[in-house]
Amino acid sequence: QTLTTVRIKDKDHITDEYTNVTPKILSYLGRNLHLQKGNPLSIVRQRIVEYFYRRFTHRGKPTFSVYDNLSPVVSTKQNFDDLLIPNDHPSRLKSDCYYINKDTLLRAHMTAHQTELLRSGLDNFLMIGDVYRRDEIDSTHFPVFHQVDAVRSQRKEELFCDKPDLEIFEPEFDSSNPNAFKNSIMDPMKQSCHTLEATKLMESQLKNHLIGLCKALFGENIKHRWVEAYFPFTHPSWELEIYYENKWLEVLGCGIVRNEILANIGPNNSIAYAFGLGLERLAMAMYKIPDIRLMWSTDSGFLNQFQIENINANITYKPVSVYPQCTNDISFWLPETLTVDTFTNNDFYDLVRDVGGDIIEQVKLKDKFIHPKTKKHSLCYSIVYRHLERTLTQAEVNKIHKQIENAVVKNYNVVIR
Ligand code: PHE
Repeated sequence: QTLTTVRIKDKDHITDEYTNVTPKILSYLGRNLHLQKGNPLSIVRQRIVEYFYRRFTHRGKPTFSVYDNLSPVVSTKQNFDDLLIPNDHPSRLKSDCYYINKDTLLRAHMTAHQTELLRSGLDNFLMIGDVYRRDEIDSTHFPVFHQVDAVRSQRKEELFCDKPDLEIFEPEFDSSNPNAFKNSIMDPMKQSCHTLEATKLMESQLKNHLIGLCKALFGENIKHRWVEAYFPFTHPSWELEIYYENKWLEVLGCGIVRNEILANIGPNNSIAYAFGLGLERLAMAMYKIPDIRLMWSTDSGFLNQFQIENINANITYKPVSVYPQCTNDISFWLPETLTVDTFTNNDFYDLVRDVGGDIIEQVKLKDKFIHPKTKKHSLCYSIVYRHLERTLTQAEVNKIHKQIENAVVKNYNVVIR
């Protein structure tokens, strides 16, 4: 038996039936767009960090520590188990994550580092970095994007400094023996171990801090709304949406950290909030950047627009010029082992991206068809090609399209129609 391995940053990882990272995806590791001077993501990162520093500096010491250089290679324990994500939760599926092997993956969210940092004794911190998710292909989705995650914890003395008779925990709950009380999330308002006063105060701080952040980024007049949400690691949970170009845009998820997470680490007498926000979403709205792939551009026509001394400067991205799109369809008969419903779209998208690279702007499922007589299944996708920095010729596109057809035939045993 031969073991195959993938090498990531000088370390070999043994592959198995879970492995689905591709060389293309691995090539994004280490780009660290969020740390590159003059990248819009880096400017938004700095503005967010500055907001939290300014808002929470006490006696000259910032209360938040910032981690922006943690390795994106994490264990399934960090990404899921430690965050109470159930074993059968869809976010664990191979079709949604980039696995290195069954125990190791490229983090799907920055929350993957929450427990290790809490365990190291931190109570207020920001985690910033690149995250990896398998998803559709269009102008707002890219398999790699960037998040800022945060945790803010408070003990009774801080939370209720002017009301010392109030408590964080319900009287029946014994924080020195949390297992004696089954913490429940049945009540939509709060976890059963927490008092309503503590939860409501944390909720209002959380919401105020995040609205303050949105106003600092978008100006006082930004329209927003809170939407109730569910995350396995917080309760209650919300999403914040902002109104941008006639649409509600989801920019972050947040909530009160499940007490089990804090109690699993060690004796706990605090309550914490957490949030995770997407840097691309914010940067695209703030600077009117029309396509997420531009974040990865090394073209000076793009980057020069973000070379600013003052991170708070107003910038509106001006397209260098818009090059034409070119759309080619691909349709094929599936082998008998596959149906139009079992064919995994995300596998196909990755294959298209592996062959076509960043000139793939969008892949759309156009048609599913089952032949009435032969019962053969067929799929048709439109592939939209556009280079961000020059005009593609039809011949050039046809050549890549042909390579994609060949790769699809080879990988799925399909017959091109
Ligand atoms: N990790 C969540 C996501 O990626 C966001 C989140 C972070 C929600 C922290 C709640 C608390 O969607």
